[in-house]
Amino acid sequence: MLAIRLVREPERLDTLVLPVRPDGPDRPPALVPTASPPGDDVRAEATALLPAARLTGAAGEVREHLRPGGTPARLVLLGVGDGDEHGWRSAGAALARAAKDEMYVTVTLPADAAETLRGLVEGLLLGSYRFRLTEAGGTPALAEVDVVVRDPDALAPTLAAARTTAEMTRLARDLTNTPSSTKNPGWFAAQVAAAATDRPDLHLRVRGPEELAAEGFGGILAVGGGSASGPRLVELDWRPADARTHVVLVGKGITFDTGGISIKPVPAMKLMRKDMAGAAAVVAATLGAAALRLPVRITTLAPLAENMVSGSAFRPGDIIRHYGGLTSESTNSDAEGRLVLADALAYAERELRPDLLVDLATLTGANAVALGKRHGALYSENDQLAADLLAAIGAAGERAWRMPLPADYVEYLGSDVADLHSSPDPAKSITAALFLREFTGDLRDRWVHVDMSAPSWSEDVHGELTRGATGWGVRGLLRWLATLG
Ligand code: BES
Ligand code: MN
Ligand code: ZN
Repeated sequence: MLAIRLVREPERLDTLVLPVRPDGPDRPPALVPTASPPGDDVRAEATALLPAARLTGAAGEVREHLRPGGTPARLVLLGVGDGDEHGWRSAGAALARAAKDEMYVTVTLPADAAETLRGLVEGLLLGSYRFRLTEAGGTPALAEVDVVVRDPDALAPTLAAARTTAEMTRLARDLTNTPSSTKNPGWFAAQVAAAATDRPDLHLRVRGPEELAAEGFGGILAVGGGSASGPRLVELDWRPADARTHVVLVGKGITFDTGGISIKPVPAMKLMRKDMAGAAAVVAATLGAAALRLPVRITTLAPLAENMVSGSAFRPGDIIRHYGGLTSESTNSDAEGRLVLADALAYAERELRPDLLVDLATLTGANAVALGKRHGALYSENDQLAADLLAAIGAAGERAWRMPLPADYVEYLGSDVADLHSSPDPAKSITAALFLREFTGDLRDRWVHVDMSAPSWSEDVHGELTRGATGWGVRGLLRWLATLG
């Protein structure tokens, strides 16, 4: 990962990055005033370049200008848009891509730099992310970025927090990008164990098939039953002494979703290694909260299973007894996510009794149908809680949209043979949310569900997103958790 240093004066003037911003319609962009302005000659040269550079100053625009024999030898004009955190995040990502062949670059920041630094650092570290199991394609040269600020000591905590946020987002991306031949439930649990060692106040319990059976986790066992790699339930607890609020996070952890006996067609199955992106996000956010020592108790539950087709797979028409005793009739084994989540939600409500309950899940293809590829679908009965989470998600540079929980759709959950029908046809993302709500008990109005199937993956490079897993949810959750105390 890129090393980022805060410095008071430029030290290695090879490539100097100067931020530019729009300066009104039909005008070239203007240089952004920075804490340590470049020398008069460099500034005059950059200013003279601006009209010819065909820049608008929009966030993420980059122009490189060579100065043979000069110091610096290269100038990079970098559009930062409004110059807010979002603009700098896009700019940082664009810079990481444009400068990938430089060894190091120096960026000058405006004087009042906390938000811009946060955006820049997240953009650099997320935009330079690559998932590779081999060295094929070569690795980028860019290794170090010096950031020139007025007061490096004062900004050190901002840098550390942004780095932790980006590292955890990268961890979620790694877990989600990993092929399912490697990533079975046991492997995922082992990754959590490895990441959680050496952190006092962080406790991990992993239940295997026998314990799940003994305690009645019928949904996780049904979905995991068709796989040679048995299911797990990860329970990761961040328990700081000064916590007043207890949050339970739940993440769907299907390490591969074939659809089961109700098997998916080829195109729909292609990317189903990502079906544990919710689990990856909640685990990474919890590890991040522990690294940042946020004063809030967090218990994270990741029900992990592989939804396979085999002689031991569960069948359409089976009736499942979930943790706590509610039963559900499944007529489509591809609606498996809600079955494992139901157990985890019921366990959270009955045994952990938190103040707030949030789940993230790659639950339905309907998420993308309704909202396109970059918005999660957020459900809650609690207006304040929904607004708080939406605000945190937006501030972190992620997107979600609130969806309804219509009372008259609850009838779709009716079953002749069980308490609930788990795979009704209409309004798929909404009815999935309504199904989950049945398992939240007393926490019904302190619960949020986010269907994040769509934004968990990116087909193209976009701002700080690279192709593949996005780590969606880590940034938003960490922002939100930081507001609780
Ligand atoms: N994992 C899928 C949802 C999904 C689809 C995630 C596309 C990411 C991209 C989920 O388990 C599923 O198969 N859902 C079904 C539900 C239906 C059977 C009620 C769906 O969306 O079609
Ligand atoms: Mn499925
Ligand atoms: Zn699934």
